[in-house]
Amino acid sequence: MNSTFSASADDEVKTLEVEIERILPGGVGLAHAEGRTLFVSLAAPGDIVRVVIDRVSGKVAFASIREIVKAGPERVEPPCPYFGRCGGCDFQQLSYEAQLPAKVEIIRDCLRRLGGIAEPPEISMMPSPDPWHYRARAEWQIDLANQTLGYFERGSRTVCDVAECGVLVPALQQQLEELRAQLQSNTLTGAVRDIQAAAGDEGVSLALTLRSLEAVPAHKQETREVTRTIAGERYHFNAEAFFQTNLPLLPALLESAIGDAAGDAAIDLYCGVGLFTLPLARRFRRLIGVEANGRATAFARRNVEYAGSQPGPYGSSLANVRIITARVGDWLTENSRSLGPVDFLLLDPPRTGAENRDIAGILALRPRRISYVSCDPATLARDLKKLIAGGYSLDSIAAFDMFPQTHHVETVARLTSNN
Ligand SMILES: C[S@@+](CC[C@H](N)C(=O)[O-])C[C@H]1O[C@@H](n2cnc3c(N)ncnc32)[C@H](O)[C@@H]1O
Repeated sequence: MNSTFSASADDEVKTLEVEIERILPGGVGLAHAEGRTLFVSLAAPGDIVRVVIDRVSGKVAFASIREIVKAGPERVEPPCPYFGRCGGCDFQQLSYEAQLPAKVEIIRDCLRRLGGIAEPPEISMMPSPDPWHYRARAEWQIDLANQTLGYFERGSRTVCDVAECGVLVPALQQQLEELRAQLQSNTLTGAVRDIQAAAGDEGVSLALTLRSLEAVPAHKQETREVTRTIAGERYHFNAEAFFQTNLPLLPALLESAIGDAAGDAAIDLYCGVGLFTLPLARRFRRLIGVEANGRATAFARRNVEYAGSQPGPYGSSLANVRIITARVGDWLTENSRSLGPVDFLLLDPPRTGAENRDIAGILALRPRRISYVSCDPATLARDLKKLIAGGYSLDSIAAFDMFPQTHHVETVARLTSNN
């Protein structure tokens, strides 16, 4: 549609009226105006909105909505009072039914543009059983001077003071309230900068990040250990080691990532506390898990030991598993040419995806099948391009809505070696 410059009456800021065409990777709305491509935050497809340009970069501009002239058909009233200010949720303006296809489109867009995959396979999408109250881990920021506790505001390091967060599981919401009470009664003092929280069956595990090592606050205690049982396996962990956020989706994620894989040798890269390690250990005669965080590998070894000690249909002590504390790139560089044939390799890297040397190491290792679990479609697509160029075929893509109310999405890509 045509766009027009105009000055809003109140503050003389130049605004543009545009129509949002669709949602792009990163969760922004796409619009065009004055010869530029606009990325509009917190938009819904079909919205006609008056926007202000925040930043220009060549032919691209980043914009925010000043006024909704006409709401698109999928726009809903965001229920959270902090929406727009809090940096946490950027999809609350979309109905839950609209969030799911928008995420599929984001994945497809990344596969085409960044992965060079002209015709991506059909992408299945599994919704979250609960689009609210799903988040079982969180990172909260504290500003002691201003007595604020919550998440960073959008695009800033200012702490948005959040009393109630609609995506937290009830145990974390309660924990947030307890921390707020401590903040207000001055028992949460000293050098606390942020708090990692993870909910388990036994309660909440908290890990505090301190501003300086000298000033240890009075309430600082050992990070509590908790457990969760997923698809019949028990996992011990604490807030200092990664554990997935949306627990009800995990059995389906495990099934999609592992499926009927079985055989002699398998590798679990970025294994964390062993979410995929345990089910893989039941299916392969030899398994190696690699993870950089020493606290996570300590839990992974413990989880393997515990799983092996349990009476069960497998009767296995799980002595077939080796957990290695190392950066994946270092370990692959040293070992990929000497390991022998690998039937199955699973990788589940952080948002940044795999490093170049990680992909080079995987290609040197040449596993027969690869399962890539990703929480960022852009880095997934970038890495798939390299794997496909290295002689792999993309068999399937499945998406899991692990992070409702945000543009983030979990994806499992399965590949097979062409040789
Ligand atoms: C997305 S988590 C996945 C963990 C595990 N697979 C799970 O599902 O619970 C990514 C993990 O990679 C680890 N990590 C990050 N960079 C790494 C690297 N270069 N080498 C090895 N592990 C790394 C993190 O500590 C984290 O545990």
